[in-house]
Amino acid sequence: MDRLGIVPKPLKTELLGGEIFVDPSDAVFAIEENLGKEEYILTADKNGIRISGGSEQAVFYGKQTLLQMRGDCPCVRITDKPAHEYRGFMLDCVRHMFSVDDIKKLVDAAASLKMNRFHWHLTDDQGFRIWLNRRPSATIEGSVRKRSEFGSLKEEGEYGGYYTEKQMREIVDYCAERFITVIPEFDVPGHCSALLHAYPDIGCTEKPVEVKTHQGIFEDILCAGKDKTFEIVFDILEEILDIFPSEYIHIGGDEAPKTKWKACPDCQKRIRQAGLKNEEELQGWFTNEIISFLKSKGRKAIVWNESLKSGIVGNDATVQMWMDPKKHSVDFANTRNGKVIVSDFFHYYCDYPYSMTPLNKTYNYKAIVKGIKNPDNIYGVEAPIWTEFINSFEHLCYMFFPRFAAVAESGWTVEKNKNAKDFCERFRCYSRILSNIGITAAPPHEWNPSPLSRAVGTIGFTRKNVANKPKNK
Ligand code: ACM
Ligand code: ZN
Repeated sequence: MDRLGIVPKPLKTELLGGEIFVDPSDAVFAIEENLGKEEYILTADKNGIRISGGSEQAVFYGKQTLLQMRGDCPCVRITDKPAHEYRGFMLDCVRHMFSVDDIKKLVDAAASLKMNRFHWHLTDDQGFRIWLNRRPSATIEGSVRKRSEFGSLKEEGEYGGYYTEKQMREIVDYCAERFITVIPEFDVPGHCSALLHAYPDIGCTEKPVEVKTHQGIFEDILCAGKDKTFEIVFDILEEILDIFPSEYIHIGGDEAPKTKWKACPDCQKRIRQAGLKNEEELQGWFTNEIISFLKSKGRKAIVWNESLKSGIVGNDATVQMWMDPKKHSVDFANTRNGKVIVSDFFHYYCDYPYSMTPLNKTYNYKAIVKGIKNPDNIYGVEAPIWTEFINSFEHLCYMFFPRFAAVAESGWTVEKNKNAKDFCERFRCYSRILSNIGITAAPPHEWNPSPLSRAVGTIGFTRKNVANKPKNK
């Protein structure tokens, strides 16, 4: 490790000879148009500390580097810019909610690691967490589940809550001040039990649906044949667009079983009328309807990779690849010039224990997708954390860090500058920044467990959480 120990590792660090005492408040800043939008140059030498950047955002990144350089440092010139445009993290606030203050801590950490997207998962089977002025029953009815039974994490009593308009705006503003765009996720047509609880008439059977109390994939999904479905979905999106200025809105599209669509006269009628081949194409059609709606408002969609199965989704959507054995994302990039966000389940999902996803496995995963010919089609990387088995901020931080920082480094640092051992050493220095924020990472001896501990941990996690799952109701 060099003496500076910056995370994420900068592109180029030149030692100029001699030492300087770094007090970040002494730095001077300048915008230089010949530098890229996220590119900065930081010079610390006998003449003082200067940061020049191609934009305010770039200067902000220079400051984040400087904040990691307090005290006696070698005189240095750092020339730095990101490898990838999209560098994000995802937080599931449905299975368990996190306070605005705690979310801000994650945002602070993301900003210090030069991430620029916060993907906020706000709707799912176990709760609808966006306050809606026009459709309040979606929130009032859909935000409460009767109990929680996520594997061994069982909590009796109602669990409910949502983010008010003021809170969501507060997060958007807080992120904007740190050059982070909030991408809200309204997951459709699957993972919609909470919304269907409030509006059973937009399901295929129109029968009551419970807000789910356990994890899983559920057969009740939004009916694609009823016009009312789109009336409600567009109403909800209108409110989301009003609060979240992001160009991209995440519309989910993962894990949508087609059982109900197969038996639904409305869905079957839609298939015939729209000239579609099957239910998979119906999901493509459903997705395209929402993409067109977003387009009419000047916005774009991000979708999970299952949305591409039909092959008919337009390339004005961007795909988030999490589990894609049939390589729809590769096809999307190669044949339709689509953009791909890399969030591979086996490497980047931070809700799985270190025994299953050790730090080195996350860190060493290359932000490339085998088969994608043009690297420009890789938009970037995102570290997701799902919270079925995480019900406190302390546990969230333990699971997220340092893997969160490993993904941030894969987003920022060019492959040839990456090194897992060096990262671990630098992360220990960086932990000081995290503790100032109020975040405690997992202890170093847990980052890369031995093969035996990995086996024991994996079996333990599976028995505790997966094998212990109640039957779908
Ligand atoms: C997902 O993990 N269902 C996107
Ligand atoms: Zn239907």
